[in-house]
Amino acid sequence: MKYIEDIMDIHCHMLPHVDDGADTYKMARKMLRRASRQGVTKIILTPHYRIDYFETSMEKIKEEFYKMQRMILKMNLDMEVYLGCEYHCHNSMVKRLKNGERPTLAGSSYVLVEFSSSHNFRTIRNQVYELIVAGFKPVLAHIERYPCLFEDKTLELVEEIVNLGGYIQINANSVLGKSGWKVKRFCRKLMEEDLVSFIASDSHDDVYRIPNLGECADYVEKKMGYDYAKRIFVKNPRKIIDDIKTNERKK
Ligand SMILES: [Fe+2]
Repeated sequence: MKYIEDIMDIHCHMLPHVDDGADTYKMARKMLRRASRQGVTKIILTPHYRIDYFETSMEKIKEEFYKMQRMILKMNLDMEVYLGCEYHCHNSMVKRLKNGERPTLAGSSYVLVEFSSSHNFRTIRNQVYELIVAGFKPVLAHIERYPCLFEDKTLELVEEIVNLGGYIQINANSVLGKSGWKVKRFCRKLMEEDLVSFIASDSHDDVYRIPNLGECADYVEKKMGYDYAKRIFVKNPRKIIDDIKTNERKK
């Protein structure tokens, strides 16, 4: 099977011992190898940060990140890794990001923000707005999981988020139909309406929630065409890397 080349994964839990993702170095190596076989050459590692649930210290996260960089060198993989964070929505989020308590996506102005299924649309919109006003570019993680957006058949609410300046991310498993046909249909509609900016693996292990972006890119290419797939899996993620320098100049 021919995969789109130079894919970048902007959301995954491959960094071991920091959240509910990889729990051993062996698992992390398996995930990296699988991602590489799928045509992924750049990965933003995004450990969960959720107050009272996932609060691993940045010291520990950085220690594991440097170990992973050394691991990749030893494995001789063509893979660059960056550090990010999947930030669970909290009213102290902007303050903590500004204080540098948690990283943005690879040090850019893009921030991966996750909501709960119980969050209503108002909360999501307000959080997106607050981040934008503070100079960040919010990327909403796996929006297919949020009932307030999923159940709006008109997609008007998703459109409102995009018009506000938010970026939509959906998971590869959802696109591929591994979370059920209703979710698959929802993702297809989002793509057809051009509301999606990123598709990421959100991989947690090498058994169930696996790195499968190459497989997904192939599927998306068949359904939506090469140019669309290239934009979603290669070009849009590169904008995050390009934004790192711009963001550094602003600091
Ligand atoms: Fe995640």
